[in-house]
Amino acid sequence: MAVSKVSRKNTSLDQHPGMHVYQNYPLNVGAPLEVIRQAFVTPQECFFVRSHGVVPHIHARSYRLTVTGQVQTPLELSLDDLRTRFPASTVMATLQCAGHRRDELATIGPIPGEILWGAETIGNAVWRGVALREVLLAAGVGPDVQHVAFLGLDTIHKGREHFAFGGSIPLEKAMHAEVLLAYEMNGQPLLPRHGFPLRVLVPGYIGARSVKWLASIILQEAPSSNYYQARAYKLFPPHIQARSADWTQGQMLGALPLNSVIFRPTEGEQLQARPISIQGYAVAGEGQRIERVEVSSDGGATWTNATLLEQPQPWTWCFWEATVPLGPGVHQLVVRAWDSAGGTQPAEVRQVWNWKGYLNNAWHRINVVIQ
Ligand code: MTE
Repeated sequence: MAVSKVSRKNTSLDQHPGMHVYQNYPLNVGAPLEVIRQAFVTPQECFFVRSHGVVPHIHARSYRLTVTGQVQTPLELSLDDLRTRFPASTVMATLQCAGHRRDELATIGPIPGEILWGAETIGNAVWRGVALREVLLAAGVGPDVQHVAFLGLDTIHKGREHFAFGGSIPLEKAMHAEVLLAYEMNGQPLLPRHGFPLRVLVPGYIGARSVKWLASIILQEAPSSNYYQARAYKLFPPHIQARSADWTQGQMLGALPLNSVIFRPTEGEQLQARPISIQGYAVAGEGQRIERVEVSSDGGATWTNATLLEQPQPWTWCFWEATVPLGPGVHQLVVRAWDSAGGTQPAEVRQVWNWKGYLNNAWHRINVVIQ
């Protein structure tokens, strides 16, 4: 059974009152479009929360990060060690969950047991910490290492099994300067829900690889065997259903694809007949930049270029705006983006449907009524 939205009043002081609380235990909170469109850099209080276990509360003073596996020198680092022994790096990056826009996929076929997130598991922040590569170089990377695995301090309960959340990224990505061990978000220490005191930040990759409450880094030949790498967060083609899925055949998710979404107007909104302003965001896939954003007011038959409101940067979303004249009646507004590699988005949700509901980047469509 899919987990649907509950409109429980949110009483946490650390959280914007407009957030959608899907679950409290584990904490899963979406950022509605009217909340996230308010700031290019998303405040922590307005940032979606995706967790698979209960948020652990960790004492900064006793916290230690271990670096083990195929290394020359295993490391055990306190927060002070991380701050004083390594140079600090700052990266602006958009974090996006693999389940972003899953609710649209669920209109095509069943997605059992997953939260039906809207376009609300995305946020953009200025992250500060230590480049992962600095720590890997200090430990000395063994010659056969191909993957860097992470384990969190939270405990996941699945039936009778209890284990930590984990995942891995290829060594090649781990050595890129944008991959951080982050201790700050927007100039403040991470909130507990976002991984205090230390989390991984892997720009351009699905959010699941940005492991929160980081306990250990393990250098190894193979990808992580953790449930969230070896089983969940795998992509299957549209013709595979839950009952026919062979877990070994799914593709392990890493890099995110190009995506774009309309912030406003919103679905079903009624507007007066006049030129209307359409606004939204676009985010390029791993290592690309947004090149162009187009909107259509006739379901995709004709297109108008939108104005990009920022200079497009890799790893970071870009806000855009377009004005279109609309006569009375029902209109379907559509957005699609193009990236610096000439790539664009698939037109239809059914082209990207998969039974786990990951990586929906089909054209985003909104129906409005002009009076
Ligand atoms: N790290 C741990 N330890 N446990 C988790 O449940 N969830 C992951 C990732 N890191 C998770 C985790 C997922 S699926 C996502 S999308 C991001 O954290 C969300 O980060 P946020 O909650 O700070 O927005």
